[in-house]
Amino acid sequence: MDLKPSGSLKIDTFSMRIGDIEGVELDRLHAHSLAVGWPHRAEDWQFLREMGHGFVALDEIGRVLGSAMWFAHGADFATVGMVITSPRLQTLGAGQWLMKRVFEKVAGRDLRLNATRAARRLYLSLDFQPEKTVYQCQGVASLQMTGRPANIRGDVRSLGENDIAAMIALDAAGFGVRRAALIEKLFVHSAGYGLFKGHTLSAFALCRPFGRGHVVGPVVAVSDADALAVVRPHVADHSGSFLRIDTHMDNGEFAAFLSHSGMPVFDTVVTMSLGKRFAAVPYGSSLRTYALASQTLG
Ligand SMILES: CC(C)(COP(=O)(O)OP(=O)(O)OC[C@H]1O[C@@H](n2cnc3c(N)ncnc32)[C@H](O)[C@@H]1OP(=O)(O)O)[C@@H](O)C(=O)NCCC(=O)NCCS
Repeated sequence: MDLKPSGSLKIDTFSMRIGDIEGVELDRLHAHSLAVGWPHRAEDWQFLREMGHGFVALDEIGRVLGSAMWFAHGADFATVGMVITSPRLQTLGAGQWLMKRVFEKVAGRDLRLNATRAARRLYLSLDFQPEKTVYQCQGVASLQMTGRPANIRGDVRSLGENDIAAMIALDAAGFGVRRAALIEKLFVHSAGYGLFKGHTLSAFALCRPFGRGHVVGPVVAVSDADALAVVRPHVADHSGSFLRIDTHMDNGEFAAFLSHSGMPVFDTVVTMSLGKRFAAVPYGSSLRTYALASQTLG
């Protein structure tokens, strides 16, 4: 009888249990997102946990094999993100399973998320509708001093705590949903520049540590020129280091500025919604979100 064991063993059944993301050590969540090549640091997970809620899928010995989070704003709306299943589990139904657990918690709310290419089929099967492409622009920032500087109408200055209420109002107009708690919390971790016309805040951009460097967002403005007025100082501050901006803008002065400042398009995701659609604000006519807070947060 040949007792030589085979070099491989096929294991096609194992069970997982659902857990609250709160109870999981940050380094295990960090390892989980690293396994799919995501740049989140342990601190980024911590920030998201403080902002939202989530589930993890755990194996028999407590390893994190799946995650899904949601971030509620008001009574009627939530964003969904950090939906990850471990590579060895993918296409076996774990993504669907996690999303259905999330649905139980966000029942009755309009939902918005940003879907990677890998996830589009999953979300389509759950009736999410594609709305807009998000351009993930990133690289080593370099502010080009040549060319005509942005035509700034108003005064640009650093934002302080007294400006938070105005930022919340602008963000709500651009995003379509009021996100007071998120803006307050982002502000604590961010540097911010605002464009003031008289005493009125008319555009702003926050920038905070994230992933491989810093991320600029949210950025809210009525025009490319105003958006550039508040983003430029962040690019100057981080010149020579890694900077990222996630934007829906695919052309115009703002998009051109990003690629000329060392941040070409690295990847795209698609904003999808379930329930009320993400109302597209007519270009140039009113406040719009020029850069997302992040793909997870919207
Ligand atoms: C996206 C992701 C969460 C999907 O998880 P999953 O566990 O593979 O999802 P499921 O097994 O539940 O699949 C759900 C549906 O998508 C299909 N599907 C999933 N991956 C697929 C693939 N690579 N090719 C074809 N179909 C695929 C499944 O067949 C299923 O379709 P159905 O509903 O018509 O039966 C997982 O691939 C992942 O973590 N990717 C890396 C991180 C990422 O991009 N996350 C998404 C953030 S928005």
